[in-house]
Amino acid sequence: MPEAVTRRSAIRLLGGAISVAAATGASPVAAAAPARRPLTAPARAADIASLLRRLTLDEKISLLHGAADPAKLGQAGYLPGVPRLGIPPLRLADGPAGVRVTRHATALPAPVLLASAFDPELARAYGRTIGHEGRALGQDVLLSPMVNLIRTPYAGRNFETFAEDPLLAADLVAAEIQGIQAEGLIATVKHYAVNNQEHERMSIDVRIDERTLHETELRGFEAAVRAGAGAVMGAYNKVNGTYACENRALLTDILRDRWGFTGWVMTDWHAAHSTGPALAAGLDMEMPNDTYFGAALKTAVVTGLVPLAHVDRAVGRVLTVLDRFGLLDGSAPPRPERDPAAGARTALRVALAGGVLLRNERATLPLTGPAARHIAVIGPTGSVPFVSGGGSAHVVPDRADSPLDTIRARAGRGARVTYALGEDLYGKPVPAAALSPAVDLEEQRVPAGQTWNYDGTLTAGEAEEWTFVLHYSGRRPTVTLDGAELFPPIPGLGEYFTGGLAGTAPDGLAVRRHTRDRLPAGPHRLRITARGGDAGQTFRLRRTTAATRAADVAEAARAARAARSVVLFAYEDATEGQDRTTLALPGHQEELITAVTAANPRTTVVLNTSSCTAMPWLARTGAVLQMYYPGQEGAAATTALLFGDANPGGKLTQSFPVSDTRHPVAGDTLRYPGVLGREEYSEGVFLGYRWYDAHRRAPLFPFGHGLSYTTFAYGGLRLLARGGDVEATFTVRNIGQRTGAEVAQVYLGPAPGIRLPQPVRILAGYRRVELRPGEARTLQVRITRRTLSSWDTARHDWVAGTGRRTVEVGSSSRDLRLRGSVDVPMSR
Ligand code: BGC
Repeated sequence: MPEAVTRRSAIRLLGGAISVAAATGASPVAAAAPARRPLTAPARAADIASLLRRLTLDEKISLLHGAADPAKLGQAGYLPGVPRLGIPPLRLADGPAGVRVTRHATALPAPVLLASAFDPELARAYGRTIGHEGRALGQDVLLSPMVNLIRTPYAGRNFETFAEDPLLAADLVAAEIQGIQAEGLIATVKHYAVNNQEHERMSIDVRIDERTLHETELRGFEAAVRAGAGAVMGAYNKVNGTYACENRALLTDILRDRWGFTGWVMTDWHAAHSTGPALAAGLDMEMPNDTYFGAALKTAVVTGLVPLAHVDRAVGRVLTVLDRFGLLDGSAPPRPERDPAAGARTALRVALAGGVLLRNERATLPLTGPAARHIAVIGPTGSVPFVSGGGSAHVVPDRADSPLDTIRARAGRGARVTYALGEDLYGKPVPAAALSPAVDLEEQRVPAGQTWNYDGTLTAGEAEEWTFVLHYSGRRPTVTLDGAELFPPIPGLGEYFTGGLAGTAPDGLAVRRHTRDRLPAGPHRLRITARGGDAGQTFRLRRTTAATRAADVAEAARAARAARSVVLFAYEDATEGQDRTTLALPGHQEELITAVTAANPRTTVVLNTSSCTAMPWLARTGAVLQMYYPGQEGAAATTALLFGDANPGGKLTQSFPVSDTRHPVAGDTLRYPGVLGREEYSEGVFLGYRWYDAHRRAPLFPFGHGLSYTTFAYGGLRLLARGGDVEATFTVRNIGQRTGAEVAQVYLGPAPGIRLPQPVRILAGYRRVELRPGEARTLQVRITRRTLSSWDTARHDWVAGTGRRTVEVGSSSRDLRLRGSVDVPMSR
């Protein structure tokens, strides 16, 4: 009996009527799910069956695909419902770091920062904040959380998800879903499954073996189902030759038959590929439109190509979830008011808990005493706050402070805080003298319905690098230089690109860049066409050159030299739809860090990046603080951590490689990014830190790493096998001078009886604990039977890893302080 299946339920069609098979032995997680009714309630089945009898075929079909929302609230998806039968319209909004609609919302820290706290209770609070806001903002379904594992360091969405470790990801997704749904918002776990990269995401065929799938990626999805997630979003990619959104093995065999999922499966946006085959395989809803599940579905049913029973099954699944959330009989609680102050408190709490102190030499941090009295803040994101990443996870916050302002306020009146840009993200005005005929490209407004044209000459003073920076509202203007378009549609993204930091100017205009490595001196023909469209357009065309760049770096170095301490904010701007191509910081930031650290080694680099970064400059820095995309309260949290008002306690949820050539997917294009549309997960279960351990490679920073301003000592490990689980008991003591949180991590070694290559160690449990100086706490961490098991491909099931197992406990996967072993017996 697979341990996972403690609860099974299924909706079956019997002669056109739906019956709900009752669950056996409800899992504690499912029982804790905050649905207003139990997950399966036979009494409701009759109502749903009766609804199904009364719905026309057109009405049924309208519940299975997206449509345009007449209310235009700006969310990603909409279904009109069937008002005559009390089935309400449904609004579906992104996303992972806050509710993405036209109105403002709380921009929470990116999920990867939440995960760094290693704290499921915090994930629950994060979910509650989004759940509350989603309901308040008129939404019914949240298109989140994302639980795909961090497999490649380049993946564009690593900030939107949690971790490279399946256990941690599973714990966090479950807690977050419970939080979201406690507020009455339906959660959608995404993207099922193995959507671990953006490169060719719409078509890549992921080849993954059964064991790897179960032991890595699927664990989070299974936890989401057990936590009661109402919906699942199918991924864009193919899995072992078949698109995820019509993959029977995933959608039916595993999701429903093995895990007992009773909710509905929707496609990712435009990820449907067929009508009958997809529906038969287990897909229920096409989003955001009706290419396959609209008229085509009706025709297929009328002509007998698709059985009506398949339509009824899908509609029944949607209705079952709506019923669970009280959306069919009006018993759902009334929509609450937004509570921006409460949202801001959660955002701050998460950013404080998740910040990871990667390095701290020569007591560079915290900034206290003389070190805090003259500070140079450097970098574009030192002034413009980097709030959230791009794509569907981008949230428009109520407000976000500038780190420079919060640092100034915290340093106080007696201190000097200077600022230097260092790296120019948004460009400087093109000098008037360079344009003939003269034109103001700094702020052009084109009235609605009009077109604005410029045909002139741009004269470059000397041959050097030029980056053209276009800021615009509305439709992107066409800009050509010597006949070549500077800002064509982005391959794979087209016009759909909502940048995070680099893609949006501080005043909200969209930003595009184009670099000419060496623009020849002399005249160039410049033509611009801007169209006012319905709403009018504002645009500006700016530039940076090698000369302006050198001046920015020199000014930053001067500011650094003059100051006692430096805080340099570095950024990397990721978005869905594209992967990074390098682990280096973008632009000329490496050059900037080199110049600034040479001028002043008491430099702290604050990283507002999506995932890991290669740091050839690391040894020259005093400290490095990893804040990812810290949300709207990022400035306050960063400042508190820098000055020691809060003690960093976050830990890395992914290994940071030393370079582009030393990580699990390096040097093997079939492994990543794929060859001819196909990709092999040939590293098998050796994902993330498991790969570094197996290959005895040293990462730059290991999984679980994170420093503190205090010191923790470990002792007294005891291990006990009990009821199929193992209980690890040990003590953590704060032996330093400051209160702080430690994430104690428990790792498990291989099982002697299992004749498969096994990881050197896997994370088997953890506990975040806050301790005052001198305080000690005895912690108990349970290693569950599932964690002790491996996937057996002969039996297609879990097999317990019995025999003598090593358990290590420590402060990171490479800082292990305690070690013991325990006999795991054959049976419970
Ligand atoms: C993304 C999803 C998102 C959807 C709706 C897709 O492009 O992959 O994560 O929920 O758009 O915005």
